[in-house]
Amino acid sequence: MLAAREHWGSRFGFIMATAGSAIGLGNIWRFPYIAGENGGSAFILIYLAVVLSFGISLVMAEMVLGRATQRNPVGAFRALGGPRWAFAGGLGVLTGFVILSFYVVVAGWTLAYIVFMAGNELATTESAVLGAHFGNFTSQTFAPLLAAAVFMAMTAWIVAGGVGKGIERASKVLMPLLFVLLLALVARSVTMPGADAGLAFLLTPDFSRVDMNTVISATAQAFFSLSIGMGVMITYGSYLQRDVNIPRSTLIIVLLDVGVAVLAALMVLPAVFAVGLDPSAGPGLTFITLPAVFASLPFGQVFGVLFFSLLAIAALTSAVSILEPMIAWAVDEHGIRRGVATLVASLVCLLLAIPASLSFGPLSDATLAGRTFFDWMDFLANNVMLPLGGLLVASFIGWRWSGPARAHLSNDGTLCLPWLSAWIWLLRIGAPVAIAALVWQAVGGS
Ligand code: PHE
Repeated sequence: MLAAREHWGSRFGFIMATAGSAIGLGNIWRFPYIAGENGGSAFILIYLAVVLSFGISLVMAEMVLGRATQRNPVGAFRALGGPRWAFAGGLGVLTGFVILSFYVVVAGWTLAYIVFMAGNELATTESAVLGAHFGNFTSQTFAPLLAAAVFMAMTAWIVAGGVGKGIERASKVLMPLLFVLLLALVARSVTMPGADAGLAFLLTPDFSRVDMNTVISATAQAFFSLSIGMGVMITYGSYLQRDVNIPRSTLIIVLLDVGVAVLAALMVLPAVFAVGLDPSAGPGLTFITLPAVFASLPFGQVFGVLFFSLLAIAALTSAVSILEPMIAWAVDEHGIRRGVATLVASLVCLLLAIPASLSFGPLSDATLAGRTFFDWMDFLANNVMLPLGGLLVASFIGWRWSGPARAHLSNDGTLCLPWLSAWIWLLRIGAPVAIAALVWQAVGGS
């Protein structure tokens, strides 16, 4: 006899945990530089369109699967589709290992940068010096790995605490803290002298820079940012009580996620313009250019420490959610104790994080088709595995389980949802077509 499944203690706790999953490095580190590379506001508008159509539909689809079955991704697919569908959940569990092993590397950098900021090591506006600092740090063998290990340990500690006492409790404190920090930093950034150019870049859409690739980047970003395609939302949905209004909660979570991404762009890009740096500086934008911004501000050191703490907090609640589906799978399907499963899974991820971290140093020349180990993990997860996972969820609900899914989403008809048929058709046709285009382009372009 299985122990009764744990559930979220409150709707607020559920929303904070789920928003905590969605809001992460994807929003604060990745979104501003991708928007910067893709011309600013036109990209943001396209991103909004993708998120509010496919994004919302897929989050609801995953949550329905989870709540209806009260199972981890493998168990959920098996319960509804039979053993032939279990692989769809298995793919998600596997994707979790891939994502977490590079996610903890970048998250480790954020921890290290809190220390650098606090020690006043980055007090210069010279981006060349800051670039060299970033390169020197990330190319070391041990220091970045140590940072990744510390981060992994924090993640494991929260997950081992369980759903209510671990994940929910941590999210209820960390997420509101994140919102306050973010608002303070945005207020600082947009009032800097010279910030207007950045605001113009963000507020006047330039559609001449938009092409198919922009739309595809926006779609891939939406998957990563909303945590869809690897069963996180199935797993978090499986801890839901029957009476929760899934569409409404989803809308709140998605709006929070998009809101934080846009606020992060508002925080990063005007400041970048204000100190005369290049908005398309790529992944280094956060770690190289922002310290320059802080160095040019009164109390910059304080803002710097706050900023990297914000990134670390956002990363932590997301990492927790990447770890949880594998743990739920080990606990539900194999009866392994939560603590043991967490320890083993964390160690495996750390082992995989070693080559990911060394990709910036000793293994930087060990490339396959031009990509390092880190680049491969990132590419496979974002451009292949997450989209495929999304495709499986969409097809399963759209074609195999649409009747019960409609009933379940509307809480057996007690919620009035006039768009239910549109949802099903988007899952049947819209999402698969968009995802096929994404994967096709990614694989063809590799
Ligand atoms: N959504 C998280 C972020 O934006 C990352 C993530 C991806 C979390 C996939 C869970 C699953 O950083």
